[in-house]
Amino acid sequence: MTSRLDFSITHWVSSDSCLVVRGVQGCKDGLVGDEPEYICDAIPSRVKEFTAGRSAARVAMQALGIPFSAVLQGAGGEPIWPDAICGSISHTDAFAVAFVARKGAYESVGVDIDDDRPISDQIARDITWSTEIGRLLALGICQDRSSARNFAFSAKEAIYKCQYPRTLCRALGFRQVRLVERTGVRGSYLGASGWRVPTDVATFLPWITVIPVRLAEHRIVCATYQRRIV
Ligand SMILES: CC(C)(COP(=O)(O)OP(=O)(O)OC[C@H]1O[C@@H](n2cnc3c(N)ncnc32)[C@H](O)[C@@H]1OP(=O)(O)O)[C@@H](O)C(=O)NCCC(=O)NCCS
Repeated sequence: MTSRLDFSITHWVSSDSCLVVRGVQGCKDGLVGDEPEYICDAIPSRVKEFTAGRSAARVAMQALGIPFSAVLQGAGGEPIWPDAICGSISHTDAFAVAFVARKGAYESVGVDIDDDRPISDQIARDITWSTEIGRLLALGICQDRSSARNFAFSAKEAIYKCQYPRTLCRALGFRQVRLVERTGVRGSYLGASGWRVPTDVATFLPWITVIPVRLAEHRIVCATYQRRIV
């Protein structure tokens, strides 16, 4: 089942990137190199999710022809990839996702699983702007306010993971990032803008593209960073 899903998604993203979804509970793959160091004190469910995420990453790397290797962990919790690629990982207790891309295609990427958990009105006010929820509905990316809130939450997690390896900015609040519609040579797309963000994050956000992905019952959000030469 995993390889069928991997194959369909690989082509959807781009020829230089691969998005892999795999089950957590059925993952029999092991860890590589120093990877076990990062979960030596972890509870079993965390070990399973970490392991499935690394497994998904290696499946994606294999699809791109990248040699089998460990995916280590940086001081901020971010995955550390071999030089030629960038990538991101997300997991729930059931599924792990890895999004991996060649550096020539993207300089950084982020991914998050939108698990459709309920978001109260109060939390929605803390993490979203009403304008961006309206925009997600108007663009047809989401069909109702509830799913728009979930999407916005996941999109910002994906953006956070995408920006972190470039800016090392840990203190980025949800309301400091706003989902916006942008227009490029290939038409309009979903991007991000900042509100009271540090300078390096402010220069980073305009180059972000947010991509909603549907995979069976799963909703996944990818964020890509590709600085254009102007
Ligand atoms: C780090 C964070 C993004 C992880 O997201 P999550 O929904 O809790 O968990 P997910 O399963 O989706 O992602 C976990 C994976 O994120 C990755 N990750 C963790 N910290 C990261 C960082 N600083 N940068 C990039 N990726 C990171 C790791 O690969 C991790 O999995 P692993 O530990 O097994 O390798 C989240 O916990 C967090 O701290 N967010 C900060 C606040 C925020 O998102 N603000 C948004 C404003 S734009």
